[in-house]
Amino acid sequence: MTVHFIGAGPGAADLITVRGRDLMARCPVCLYAGSLIPRELLAHCPPGARIVNTAAMSLDDIVAEIAAAEARGEDVARLHSGDLSVWSAMGEQLRRLRALGIAYTVTPGVPSFAAAAATLGAELTLPGLCQSVVLTRTSGRATAMPEGEQLAAFAATGAVLAIHLSIHVAEKVQAELLPHYGADCPAAIVWRASWPDETVVRTTVGALAQAVATSMERTAIMLVGRSISAEDFGESRLYAVDYDRRYRPLGTQPRFPSNGQAVDTATDRPLTGSSEGQA
Ligand SMILES: C[S@@+](CC[C@H](N)C(=O)[O-])C[C@H]1O[C@@H](n2cnc3c(N)ncnc32)[C@H](O)[C@@H]1O
Repeated sequence: MTVHFIGAGPGAADLITVRGRDLMARCPVCLYAGSLIPRELLAHCPPGARIVNTAAMSLDDIVAEIAAAEARGEDVARLHSGDLSVWSAMGEQLRRLRALGIAYTVTPGVPSFAAAAATLGAELTLPGLCQSVVLTRTSGRATAMPEGEQLAAFAATGAVLAIHLSIHVAEKVQAELLPHYGADCPAAIVWRASWPDETVVRTTVGALAQAVATSMERTAIMLVGRSISAEDFGESRLYAVDYDRRYRPLGTQPRFPSNGQAVDTATDRPLTGSSEGQA
């Protein structure tokens, strides 16, 4: 018996991985974090599956569900929104499972910051502008920020900030960011990225709080940084014609043979379907 932790993605039902979907289809038990998981996803559960919304359950209740599934010899699909590596509460569940000797796997998902960036059509790391993205939040009712992880400390680096779980304190966020980014620095707020009712506001750090005042919906992410709506940035060296790179050393033959045959761009060899073409 195994518990499969699956990142269910940011909201759109087709933004789960193929692996996650296939695991769901194999598990007779599905535990899902109800507040942010689209109901259409549950259609991947097999007929007759036991499907449990864990939104109102305690950790003890959830572990009891898993232990009962183990006693029946049934695998469990455990769904959390976005990816499991950030703010999923997976860590405490895995610790309990390790203590109980219950096997588990972890399948990543599309995180909300990536869905929000996709909505904006933005590459967050642009040459000469920003090369780091900080996934962060502000202190909440249940979670205080550790010493040294205050928003201002990250803002001082000039990195792009993807600020989660903080839309209700946008005024405070704006005040902490202003001295570091300046009022004209681009920012965007994406509510419910990839859901049918997704909403986007492009704004600036100086107008962040005002932009949020138009909506009280909490499931939103704030992206702040020079790359959010930049046109004035360098081109990457990766695709520069004069750049000597491992897969296309300068002075080698053209990548694409004139007969139009498909090539493996990593090796520049024809894709023959036989092992001969492999490096
Ligand atoms: C408990 S955290 C879950 C994060 C999730 N594990 C991830 O990978 O993004 C919930 C917060 O993530 C952000 N979030 C989750 N889904 C979102 C979405 N579809 N659009 C915008 N923000 C989202 C919001 O900041 C929300 O308050």
